Amino acid sequence: MKQILILHGPNLNLLGTREPAVYGRTSLTDIDQGLREAAAQADAELVIRQSNHEGELIDTLHDARQYADGVLINPGALTHYSYALRDAIAAIGLPVVEVHLSNVHAREEFRRHSVTAPVCIGQIAGFGANSYYLALQALLQYLDLSPRAKGN
Ligand code: DQA
Repeated sequence: MKQILILHGPNLNLLGTREPAVYGRTSLTDIDQGLREAAAQADAELVIRQSNHEGELIDTLHDARQYADGVLINPGALTHYSYALRDAIAAIGLPVVEVHLSNVHAREEFRRHSVTAPVCIGQIAGFGANSYYLALQALLQYLDLSPRAKGN
């Protein structure tokens, strides 16, 4: 069974009430519940974490080397400037998919650049909560097709 880490970054704990016109009204708890249901159907197991702290996100990525086959990460605003998070993603050697609820490419100039996307296998952005489900599907298919993926 595939083990996937779902990692939510800063301010995503406020989903549902945070700028609903941009991020929608679905809470993080509801997104996580939907992800668990989707994972169960795909014979995958999820570890889900959220943190507002860069170092804690990095520690969680390091720990994932012990158990995970892949990672979905929404780094929040850290996407746009955290070289430390980028280096952590590159260091762990796991396939990582970057997820955004909003279409970051259609928003403020500073959101158009991701320092983390180049060390991820791909990025999904702009589909609201659905971005997470699409990303999970993409990651699981990637793992099924990748002969070098752990656990295959
Ligand atoms: C976000 C986009 C980021 O620019 C922003 O800082 C967030 C959320 C998204 O999911 O659309 O916190 O990652």
